[in-house]
Parts: sequence; structure tokens; C-alpha cells
Amino acid sequence: MLTGAGKVAGVVGWPIAHSLSPLLHGYWLDALKIDGALVPLAVAREDFARVIAGLQRAGFRGVNVTVPHKEAAFALAHSCDAAAKAAGAANLLVFHDDGRIEGRNTDTVGLTESVRDAMGSLQGRIIVLLGAGGAARGAVLALDGLGATKVHILNRHADRAVMLARSLQPVVQCEIVPGGLRDWDQVAGAADLLVNTTSAGMKGNLPLGLDLALLRGGATVLDIVYNPLETELLKRAKARGHATIDGLGMLMHQAAPSFEAFFGVKPKVTAGLRARLEQALRHA
Ligand code: ATR
Repeated sequence: MLTGAGKVAGVVGWPIAHSLSPLLHGYWLDALKIDGALVPLAVAREDFARVIAGLQRAGFRGVNVTVPHKEAAFALAHSCDAAAKAAGAANLLVFHDDGRIEGRNTDTVGLTESVRDAMGSLQGRIIVLLGAGGAARGAVLALDGLGATKVHILNRHADRAVMLARSLQPVVQCEIVPGGLRDWDQVAGAADLLVNTTSAGMKGNLPLGLDLALLRGGATVLDIVYNPLETELLKRAKARGHATIDGLGMLMHQAAPSFEAFFGVKPKVTAGLRARLEQALRHA
């Protein structure tokens, strides 16, 4: 339901047509019978700041921010939470009544809650993380927060893994060991959890060619990619009997704090919501 008094928020990206955010927030708005809407907005890079100023003037409560605007959102915000500062990127802008724009990053908490749902604490666990981009940075912070002992960061270009390890080691408790994808053979046997943060395996991209036979039998495999929901990596891991975690858990959990900031109610991540999103992905 939406009336003239409704609360309106947006999701800003380019492209935006495939965003699941309107569906996700719409599901909660319906379930909670809230007078409001989350509107998808396709905004080019050069228009971002002007659009944000306009939305703020038009009375929007805030926006979710997706590719390619997360760094611009971070730069534009008047203040940012610790997670946004750590990532150098904001995926949520909250417009306050006094004109202040608050930048937040809920990706890290999204991954944290998704892993916690499936595995609980990571105390004493060894993780192998693939990738060294922005998503990897947030993932290391989430894994560290859950108590992981050691995180091997493996990246196609090993120098990026070394740089990420260097910048993160001072701010985390866990031991970070950077390397290249060729180090997989050495580290796979000790891993309790394998986390893919690379875009390899996303629709249209080639999957990573790792030999999963080397992975420890009881290890869990997580892919933050949710399109396709069952990536080649997860499919192969499942076939070998590994427990898997797909990217929808992270997506649902990162949206919850945004919803609360826009609409004032803390929503629940439920099986019904997951089923609705899975249905949408199947029909995409
Ligand atoms: P994000 O912020 O989403 O993490 P990014 O900074 O572009 O995006 O990082 C993408 C990650 O996917 C990188 O770790 C990249 O590896 P490189 O740093 O070596 O480029 C990784 N990646 C993308 N395509 C890949 C592929 N085909 N094989 C291996 N790694 C790939």
C-alpha cells in the first residue's frame, strides 16, 4: 500500500533492472502492512550526487546504493559508520531530518549473519577466501568478527591479496596469509570454510577451476554470488557432499538494517522471503 503520506526510499545503481531490493523490501512492506515503497532508480555515474540531492529534497528517507556508486556514496556522506570506513564504500545512505546524510555499510553484517545462521561461531576455524576486491575486504572483517583464527586470502593477482592483507592485518585479530590461486593445493586440506568473493561464477563469467577434491571433507563452501543462486562452485561442492551457503542469506541480512533505517521496523529474515526471492531468480 502507498498513500501520499507513505515513506519512500530508493535503490540507486546502474544498471538497476535486475536488483532484487524492490522485491525484498516490498515483501517486508506487505508483510508488515507499512505505508511505503522502495523505488528502483537507474542513475549514471556522473548524475549520482545531483540525484541524491534531489531525492533528499523530495523527502526520500534514504537510498540503498549498489554498483557503481558505493565509493561515491561513501565520499558524499557527512558521516559514516565503522563498517563503511573500513570498506571505503557505503551501500546505504540515510537522509536525516536536519539535512545530514549518514553513510553505512551493511554488507559485512549481512555476511556475518548469513554465516552465523549456518555455522555459528568461527572460533578456531581456518578459512580460505578467494578474491581481493571490496567484497573480500568486507568478508575478512565479517570472518574475523565471528572469531576465525586464520584467513588465507588467495587471489588471481597475488599482489592484490598481499596489499589487502597488509591493510587489514592491523585492524583484525585473525592471522591473514595472502597468496595466489596456485597456493590452493597447499591450503585446501586445512580449510573449515571456503568463501568465494570473486565475480568468477556470476552469470556469464567462467567459474574458478579449483580442484575441490583437495578440500577437507567436512569443510563448508560459501559463494556470495546469488545470480545464479547455485553457482558452479556450489554445485560441485554439493556433489562432493560439502555443506554450502549461497548468496541469498547475505543479501537478505544486508537488507534488514536498511529496511529498519527507512521504515522504522526491524524485519525478519524468513523462509517465506527466501522462497519469494528464489522464485524471482528462477524466472529472471
Ligand atoms: P568487488 O568489489 O566486487 O570485490 P573487484 O574489486 O572488481 O570487485 O574484485 C573482483 C575480484 O574477482 C578480484 O579478486 C578479481 O581478481 P583480480 O584481482 O586478480 O582481478 C576476481 N576475479 C574476477 N574474475 C576472475 C576470474 N575469472 N578468475 C579469478 N578471479 C577473478
